[in-house]
Amino acid sequence: MSSTTAGDGGPGGAVVVTGASRGIGAAMAGDGGRAGAVVVTGASRGIGAAMAIELARRGWTVACLSRSGEMPGDLRDRDGVSAHVCDVTDEAALSRVFAAVAEAAGGIAGLVNNAGIHRQTPSVQLSRDELDAVLNVNTVGPVLACREVHPHLVATGGGLIVNIGSFWDRLGVPRTVAYCASKAALGAVTRCLAVEWAADGITVVDVAPGYISTDMNRDYLASDSGRGRLARVPSGRAGEPEEVAAFVAGLFDGPVGYLTGSTIYMDGGLGISV
Ligand SMILES: NC(=O)c1ccc[n+]([C@@H]2O[C@H](COP(=O)([O-])OP(=O)(O)OC[C@H]3O[C@@H](n4cnc5c(N)ncnc54)[C@H](OP(=O)(O)O)[C@@H]3O)[C@@H](O)[C@H]2O)c1
Repeated sequence: MSSTTAGDGGPGGAVVVTGASRGIGAAMAGDGGRAGAVVVTGASRGIGAAMAIELARRGWTVACLSRSGEMPGDLRDRDGVSAHVCDVTDEAALSRVFAAVAEAAGGIAGLVNNAGIHRQTPSVQLSRDELDAVLNVNTVGPVLACREVHPHLVATGGGLIVNIGSFWDRLGVPRTVAYCASKAALGAVTRCLAVEWAADGITVVDVAPGYISTDMNRDYLASDSGRGRLARVPSGRAGEPEEVAAFVAGLFDGPVGYLTGSTIYMDGGLGISV
């Protein structure tokens, strides 16, 4: 009734999968494939860089996209990893980069829509430019990237798209209209594409982190207000980029089976606590 599978070069010891004789348990005991590249947007730093590093560590060919085109530090000179200048709001650039990555890697296996920006402004002062900027990077960009990657995923027989949302997608947060709306919309994008593209063998999920210590909020988390917020996190701390990275990379190790369209919250329990 149970089965054991060893890790893929990680720490010693086995992972015990109970009930693995059939169904989901049996699928979990598989070893996943490494055909084609995984594209990570916003991979120059923060959560995106951590995901690129973890995916490369697990043997994936990884394409790192960002406006700066910087390679995450640990990946310099590493085979199978490339960095590309690509603003996710630029559909021509996305099209060009996906074609180049597919050509070099023999296909694309997946996409992580991670690039994002955050702004906090009293809503009565919110400018049209700021509203457009946040929605364009956090929502429109991922839709364009999904559209552009779709033919490449179909060509490799399907694949996985992970959208990086936020636990704020379901909360009312003062001075954060644009960001919260952009992430709530990303959840809707995830559900729509999951349904529309399921028959193409494409899985689409939204991984929604809580407070993760990165450039985006490091100063805030160190402030009195930030420390107060963290004190209310049931897990008692901020999350680390590597924790999100390990979870997302695990999805690529797959198989993900029956999962699609879901928003998975990684917030230390904050979004469900009172
Ligand atoms: N940190 C958190 O607490 C937290 C919580 C929930 C959700 N998230 C989400 O997680 C994702 C990553 O956040 P993070 O904290 O790692 O942010 P970060 O440290 O500020 O990194 C953002 C990344 O996105 C890239 N980027 C920004 N605008 C871009 C654009 N137009 N085109 C392409 N790349 C762009 C940046 O690189 P360049 O500047 O070189 O372009 C950078 O690599 C975001 O979607 C964010 O909303 C973060």
